[in-house]
Amino acid sequence: MITNTAALMDTIPQNKVIDIHAHILPALDDGAQSIEQSIDMLLLSKKQGVDIIVATPHFHAGRLNPAEFLAKRGEAYNALMDEINSRALDVPQITLGAELALSPDILQYTDFCGLTINNSRYIMLEMPYTTWQNWNYDVVMTIINKHNLIPVMAHIERFAALFGDFSKIESLVNMDVLVQVNARSLSEHRFKKIINSLVKKNKFNLLGSDCHNTTTRRSEMDRAMREIAKRYSPSLLQDIHTYSNNVINDRAIDF
Ligand SMILES: [Fe+2]
Repeated sequence: MITNTAALMDTIPQNKVIDIHAHILPALDDGAQSIEQSIDMLLLSKKQGVDIIVATPHFHAGRLNPAEFLAKRGEAYNALMDEINSRALDVPQITLGAELALSPDILQYTDFCGLTINNSRYIMLEMPYTTWQNWNYDVVMTIINKHNLIPVMAHIERFAALFGDFSKIESLVNMDVLVQVNARSLSEHRFKKIINSLVKKNKFNLLGSDCHNTTTRRSEMDRAMREIAKRYSPSLLQDIHTYSNNVINDRAIDF
């Protein structure tokens, strides 16, 4: 029986442990507010067994254009890496991405390249916290069909809980998308039924901490990995790691 994170790691020797969703870059959004806080978050992730962390700062169409966003993200990343390197810190490797707030306005952009996860075909989208209308689905379909990208739907369980049932998100989940669940949601009872439904549909694909700090919205990756192996199966955890590795390495995934 698997009882700790180290033992879990032994079950997945061929894959890196990846946190696919994290707000760890300093002073870009409501995540880390300083380089020091970024480092505290990275050290905590390392302790939890994370090898690679994808920095996914919020991107809102209309606030900054993609070029401005990428420039700011690059500056924050460089400043953080300078500090990590000068102190020779043992922290997870950082790769770059973004969490795009879904709105019709994002379709004004012709090129999403720099905003995808590690420059892959996979792009993280956050649905709005309001009742979804037809345009929500249309925008996701356009990103799939016109831009040839594969959406990674951020913490979909939170929306299902907000709307009160799984059927509201079912047509979205049935599209050619990958579904990311927040690590913390594994320990909250209100998400249990929704996550069970995702597992049944083979749509619990990716795990992310969605960490914003080391206190109120801290990473719970280790606890979540243990819970997935215990409540579902070690093979589901293995599948999640395989999906994550495929995403950051831009490998194709069959739907
Ligand atoms: Fe997020």
